[in-house]
Amino acid sequence: MAVAELTSPAASFAHNYNNANRLRSSQLYAPSSSCLSSDHFRSRYRSTVLPRITCSVNQVQNSAPVQVEAPKDKAECYGVFCLTYDLKAEEETKTWKKLINIAVSGAAGMISNHLLFKLASGEVFGPDQPIALRLLGSERSIQALEGVAMELEDSLFPLLREVNIGIDAYEVFQDAEWALLIGAKPRGPGIERADLLDINGQIFAEQGKALNAVASPNVKVMVVGNPCNTNALICLKNAPKIPAKNFHALTRLDENRAKCQLALKAGVFYDKVSNVTIWGNHSTTQVPDFLNAKIDGMPVKEVIKDDKWLEHEFTEKVQKRGGALIQKWGRSSAASTAVSIVDAIKSLVTPTPEGDWFSSGVYTSGNPYGIAEDIVFSMPCRSKGDGDYELVKEIQFDDYLRSRIAKVYAVP
Ligand code: LMR
Repeated sequence: MAVAELTSPAASFAHNYNNANRLRSSQLYAPSSSCLSSDHFRSRYRSTVLPRITCSVNQVQNSAPVQVEAPKDKAECYGVFCLTYDLKAEEETKTWKKLINIAVSGAAGMISNHLLFKLASGEVFGPDQPIALRLLGSERSIQALEGVAMELEDSLFPLLREVNIGIDAYEVFQDAEWALLIGAKPRGPGIERADLLDINGQIFAEQGKALNAVASPNVKVMVVGNPCNTNALICLKNAPKIPAKNFHALTRLDENRAKCQLALKAGVFYDKVSNVTIWGNHSTTQVPDFLNAKIDGMPVKEVIKDDKWLEHEFTEKVQKRGGALIQKWGRSSAASTAVSIVDAIKSLVTPTPEGDWFSSGVYTSGNPYGIAEDIVFSMPCRSKGDGDYELVKEIQFDDYLRSRIAKVYAVP
């Protein structure tokens, strides 16, 4: 058994992170002489003298590190696991898609801790889609963010080709094709999401400007930080170069919660519940639509013949689920939010099943429902799987649904 010598990422972090504004890039590599191995990668060792850790491997003949030039086209590389994807090998196999850049803010937080590993595993963008993660933290969270990057390295995800961390949105959002904006002050017990607007609105204005300046012009933006509808609107208004249609406020969490409650009441498994729209904001004014929703292909109202339950117990449970969770946990939802972000992205990158739709908070201009223009409002969407969507036209309204939707406009 031979021993490969690798420099320590932790030591490298400490060594390099004196200037907190610099973007860090961990280019993971799987050279033949390291404990990671793959034909798709080639080895690079950095010439920087750093402390070393050792790692046992079987296939190594010669443990002497090979000196190669440091990558020039990348942001500063902190690690030792400098793993560079071999584009030549990619050409040969022709099995991988072109790498995509995914930016995540609040990357050291609880939601991201669930989300990042799903993204890196291929569960979201598919098993043939390599990704680069660009992780935005704050000065306060930078140590934790380094820990996140190290755990990502240690997970050996074959699709994760690059991890950059930083605290400057203008650096981290560079060339982002997806921006998942999670970082914001969360609410605690007894606080409404709208109460966070003063503090969080500013964050999303700045991040909108940064996206406008440096992201891919067709970047898809998913706003999760609350109040997410208003934050998404603020963000898009600060990013005039990016199509307003590309901005989403996450209401998929509410859709999932509504599906769960309907399934429980009807005594069926979740997958039997479809066509659930959340109208409005991710707030207690939201309207979970039980008029158009279906259970096993039948209108919900024909399966659950209890209007009182639908209008009150069901509706309120979905509206207040986030607050109820905070009461239990002492902090806001994290795992289920991450799952719903995955669902929301998957709904945009895979074709919507025939006849079904999904909810997303999107820009209302030109909507066919008579909803006020120039706001971000959750509505039923359908996608061809190309990252874009269209609003669903064949929606029924009754007086109850119309009046409940109209009430939402007034409240952010
Ligand atoms: C949720 O709905 O769980 C999140 O938006 C967190 C919150 O503040 O409720």
